[in-house]
Amino acid sequence: MNNIRFLKPRFLTPLSVVLGTLTAMVGFVALGADKLLQGPGEAWIAPGRAARKANPLPVEANSLAQGKELFAAGCFPCHGASGKGDGPASSTLEREGKPVRPGNLSDPKLWEQSDGAIFWKISEGRTPMPAFQETFTEEQRWQIVNYVRTLAPKQQTNNTGIKTGAK
Ligand code: HEC
Repeated sequence: MNNIRFLKPRFLTPLSVVLGTLTAMVGFVALGADKLLQGPGEAWIAPGRAARKANPLPVEANSLAQGKELFAAGCFPCHGASGKGDGPASSTLEREGKPVRPGNLSDPKLWEQSDGAIFWKISEGRTPMPAFQETFTEEQRWQIVNYVRTLAPKQQTNNTGIKTGAK
């Protein structure tokens, strides 16, 4: 008996280190390692695979009208009617206690991102922006992508289409 009491601290210490590490690792994965690695102030970049996903939806009046309606319902509160990031809730947004502004969707810089990247951002969200993959169907999210494209004037310098790589 004495022996066991004597051994306890020696075995418990490495064991608690292992358990602590495991708990931290599980927590890391559960929280979304990508979200932790992209810290609160870091740029929000869609993974390459998601960014290369092709937009299956042609740009036409009906689906743009749908996209506009969905935007008014789901995005307007933060991004504002013209996508400038000045919606009624925009000044109240926070991430980890620090104020965050919604992205400016009317900035021509948005054309540096592919449709797939924007689709991914709408689907996944990033606190405080909610994930919309369960709110809107895949088709609805592409309709929103097509509508969001109408908010930003296309960049003048590049008439070959959307730039994909880094500048
Ligand atoms: C609760 C507020 C909120 C709502 C609702 C919201 N967003 Fe956002 N959105 C944000 C914030 C904040 C950011 C900036 C995130 C960052 O960069 O870390 C953002 C960023 C984005 C970006 C990335 C912009 C960039 O420059 O890369 C896109 C695209 C976007 N939102 C589209 C949408 C669309 C489309 C909807 C509706 C389906 C929507 N958002 C709804 C708050 C919101």
